[in-house]
Amino acid sequence: MTSDVRPDEDGAVIPPAGRRPSGDRVALRGDLRAALPDATAAVVVTVLVFALLWARMESGASDTVAVMPFMDDPGTYWMYLLSQAFGWSALLWAWGTVMLGLLLSGPRPARPAVSRQVLERWHRTTSLTTTALMFAHALMFAAELVRYETKVDWAERLWVAFADTFVPGWYDSGTGQVAIPIGQGALYLAIPLGLLFYVRHRIGANTWRRLHRFVIVVYVLSVWHTLLYGTNVWYGEWPRTVLWLLQLPVAVLLLLRLLRPARRAERLGSAGGGAARPGWWLRAAGRVAAGAVVVGLVVVAVSGRDGGRDRPTHPPATAPHAQETD
Ligand code: HEM
Repeated sequence: MTSDVRPDEDGAVIPPAGRRPSGDRVALRGDLRAALPDATAAVVVTVLVFALLWARMESGASDTVAVMPFMDDPGTYWMYLLSQAFGWSALLWAWGTVMLGLLLSGPRPARPAVSRQVLERWHRTTSLTTTALMFAHALMFAAELVRYETKVDWAERLWVAFADTFVPGWYDSGTGQVAIPIGQGALYLAIPLGLLFYVRHRIGANTWRRLHRFVIVVYVLSVWHTLLYGTNVWYGEWPRTVLWLLQLPVAVLLLLRLLRPARRAERLGSAGGGAARPGWWLRAAGRVAAGAVVVGLVVVAVSGRDGGRDRPTHPPATAPHAQETD
């Protein structure tokens, strides 16, 4: 029996070339529309985090104020708080979309509660929402810099805020000299790596798949940026521990995805036959590294040696952001 359709390695049905209906290509516009409920949920989460950060600032419990005492006024610094809130929702959505991606490319559960198509759709929409949230986080930080910098004319205010926020290497104060380029790296990689999906019929599915793999780098950079720069996880206390612990399921799924990839071609094979193949050692090293990350995360959480600073008994003389030096 012959058929004019064939399943690809991921199980999706591909009609033969030439007869592919145009609607078969997953259009960006369609996904943007499908992402609306998801994006709405993200906005609700952002508003809740914003309200929490505001309440903590008002009650005197804010860690941001503990790190930067001059910020003790939510009415003035509301754009900074909104930037932080977008940062947290972006990180949460990044976590979710990475987990979905790893579920799709790793070992398939025997009886999925939701179909592969649904998981794929969620992965695409949450990934679009994540990029938008990351951008909103950076934009609100830029807006706060525009509001803050009153001593120069508007053109310079806008330029400095733009450059400090979006030009790598421009921001020249404290921890931000390292942490901001890391955040920019995450944002600037997220955009092409996410959007390439929508031109994969032009670049080829294999090229897309190879490039899309690097999206894990976006996630690692995002977490690194947060641990380095987030004033709400500045001290070595429970919020920082929770952030570290949240990385454990991601690392475990990554390890499983590498050990038992859904695509047969990505399996490691036996060392005897496979060791001669180019890339075999690289793949084996990737699996060992993922295992080491799992162990490392457990050690960090159990030992409490998580890079958090000690809370000072007196307000600090220096703080991580530009304003403290003024
Ligand atoms: C252009 C890129 C970026 C810029 C300029 C930027 C800027 C900043 C700044 C200034 C802070 C410190 C806020 C504080 O006082 O806590 C911060 C924290 C943070 N950023 Fe970014 N960021 C960028 C990219 C990202 C990306 C891609 C993510 C990914 C999700 C992210 C997530 C966060 C989170 C979760 C915090 C912690 C906020 C808090 O402690 O409340 N950022 N970022």
